Amino acid sequence: MLSYQHGFHAGNFADLHKHLTLALLLESLNRKPKSWSYLETHSGRGRYDLRDAQAAKTGEYLEGIAKLWAINADNALGRYLDLVRGLNEGELQTYPGSPLIAAEMAREADKIHLMELHPQEVQELKRNFRQYAQVGVHHRDGYEGVLSMLPPKPNRGLVLIDPAYEVKTEYMQVADFLPKALRVWGNGSFAIWYPVLGANRHEDMIKAIVKNCPDAAILRSEKHVSAPAERGMFGSGMLIVNPPWQLDQQLAELVPSLLEKLAVADGKAELTWLREPA
Ligand SMILES: C[S@@+](CC[C@H](N)C(=O)[O-])C[C@H]1O[C@@H](n2cnc3c(N)ncnc32)[C@H](O)[C@@H]1O
Repeated sequence: MLSYQHGFHAGNFADLHKHLTLALLLESLNRKPKSWSYLETHSGRGRYDLRDAQAAKTGEYLEGIAKLWAINADNALGRYLDLVRGLNEGELQTYPGSPLIAAEMAREADKIHLMELHPQEVQELKRNFRQYAQVGVHHRDGYEGVLSMLPPKPNRGLVLIDPAYEVKTEYMQVADFLPKALRVWGNGSFAIWYPVLGANRHEDMIKAIVKNCPDAAILRSEKHVSAPAERGMFGSGMLIVNPPWQLDQQLAELVPSLLEKLAVADGKAELTWLREPA
């Protein structure tokens, strides 16, 4: 089923959690001169126009990036916001999806492989990345496409897994994919985004990932923007398999600061090692 289009949700509170974590992971890779590979299973169109009909219909970005847009901060959140501001001319219009964040942070020898299955989204993705020499766009299933490219060259780097979770089975697809990917790329890092909803389906996915990946370090970061509710997404989560050194300390500082800047009344940030590095 491919009814989901990220344009309705781009720049919302959950995107900020995901994209700030992604920026931290890429900053960590950029700390060493050795080049990296970035692969994405579910890319979307990569660049969103917050003045278009999809964004206007939900207005979700108004409770997300629009609240942070003008903030200056001398830390990784500030650098992420500088990246967003750099794509805009004085007023907020363009919101970078994960592929654009990776492309903007990539150095010349780094490589980016983007999978997208939706026919319209992949066309937009191709159009948006024409001028980026290091980016390859693939119209194919994200799990199958990424697996076929592992281990990548360069051999250090990151996979982002960001499904829409439109159907229940998507949770277990993620849990099935990870051990297969780790078997061929044990030194890769993997970042998985998930929604926090009343049905709590993410909990079974997380249990299965911990069980299926017995040798990997796994860090869980969660951000809730309101008290648990039966309907609707009230939080977002990031699971990082093989996280880089000090990511835990950075998330411990930055996710609460994100909540504070979004001024949510009933928010909470949680950070847990599901398995610490050996
Ligand atoms: C949540 S959006 C991606 C957002 C993007 N990662 C970002 O943060 O900017 C999920 C995307 O996955 C695409 N999609 C759904 N199933 C897919 C599959 N099996 N393989 C590749 N892409 C898929 C959808 O069309 C949608 O564009």
